[in-house]
Amino acid sequence: MNDAMNDANDFIYLDNAATSFPKPQEVLQYMTDFYATRGVNPGRTGFDLAVEAEETLIETRKSLTSFFGGGSDFNRLVFGHNVTDALNLLICSVLKPGDHAITTRLEHNSVLRPMYQARERGIDVDFVPFDSKGYVDPADIEAKIRPNTKLVVMTHGSNVIGTIQPIAEVGAICRKKGVLFAIDAAQTAGLVEIDATAMNIDVVCFTGHKSLYAPPGTGGMYIAEHVDIRPCRSGGTGVKSALKTQPLDFPWRMEFGTLNTMGIAALLAGQRWIAAQGGISKIYEHEMRLARRLRDGLAEIEGITLYCADMETNHLPVFVFNVRGLPPDQAGALLDVEHYVITRTGLHCAPLVHEGIGTSDIDGTVRFSVGPFNTDEHIDHAISAVADIAAYGKQRAEKKRPAKSAGSSKPAVQATT
Ligand SMILES: Cc1ncc(COP(=O)(O)O)c(C=O)c1O
Repeated sequence: MNDAMNDANDFIYLDNAATSFPKPQEVLQYMTDFYATRGVNPGRTGFDLAVEAEETLIETRKSLTSFFGGGSDFNRLVFGHNVTDALNLLICSVLKPGDHAITTRLEHNSVLRPMYQARERGIDVDFVPFDSKGYVDPADIEAKIRPNTKLVVMTHGSNVIGTIQPIAEVGAICRKKGVLFAIDAAQTAGLVEIDATAMNIDVVCFTGHKSLYAPPGTGGMYIAEHVDIRPCRSGGTGVKSALKTQPLDFPWRMEFGTLNTMGIAALLAGQRWIAAQGGISKIYEHEMRLARRLRDGLAEIEGITLYCADMETNHLPVFVFNVRGLPPDQAGALLDVEHYVITRTGLHCAPLVHEGIGTSDIDGTVRFSVGPFNTDEHIDHAISAVADIAAYGKQRAEKKRPAKSAGSSKPAVQATT
């Protein structure tokens, strides 16, 4: 994969799960050209530029609808600010007091916090655990479904331990039981196949700035055609302005205010860039090969603990580790300052995952996440950087405290008079 841009930077970026960097040149170019030539408000008026801008929006809706395996109505692909925004909108629109919802202990705060808030509104929520390898058992979700269960929402891929969850199995259960099924595709959209129709996913919530290669502030959801959702928000749409309520036609039903058209244009360019690389499987293979090499390299280093890093199947190019003798934030700082390797440390906005893997009380872990512009040289450099800080951690862990001079109360330094 073209690594020209990463080489221009004098650091090695292994924090792609936070946001992909760099973005493909083609996306940056398309986005700025779009904004320079058609950066007007689409759909609000009928002048030529507005129509052209609207065409880009429509093309992006069509492209993403088919990318997510949606139906023929591309207006069911609605744009928002990011996946957090989409999940909040979904959860507050679907759940009413007295309802029950199910999610998992693998979730990011983008699901956990709206669910805690839902509890305050009188909604009962279950958080299903994951096993020692980092996977949720669909049978555990099925066992929690009750007559008043309205929503199952879960992450497709963990942003901490990188495990890809069995969403098709959960989708089949939810469809059988008549429960709405939504996924948080933050880590998987653009990297792992999502076929909403085949996998019985009712709502795909996505963010644009990771493996879809758009800038931050982009995202939204695909809502399957059989889903009747009433929005908990309202606002300007540019159509049916005399109505006192939000229009019920899509996309306006679930879109509020002026859209991030420049970011949406970038999503379209991101789709084209993915296709030009040979599709998501080519990008996934490249990233997984490097991620496995990195994991294997770390596994050889004394003092490294890896968590749920059996990456042979159903795994993202994302994993976490700790270094004996170094708290994760210190390990991350040393990798950055001494070796120019960029990671993410701490709890990664997913505190229940860290509870599950036993790293809450040690301030989390260090995370590596590979992107399309990483190379074998980056991986070699990162492995030797970790070896170096692990040697330092070992020295620190083994450093003996000075023996107490038993019985002596004399100060070592004598005061002079
Ligand atoms: C699994 C998961 N969900 C949600 C989010 C939140 O994404 P955003 O900040 O783009 O809304 C992230 C981002 O790291 C994530 O990894």
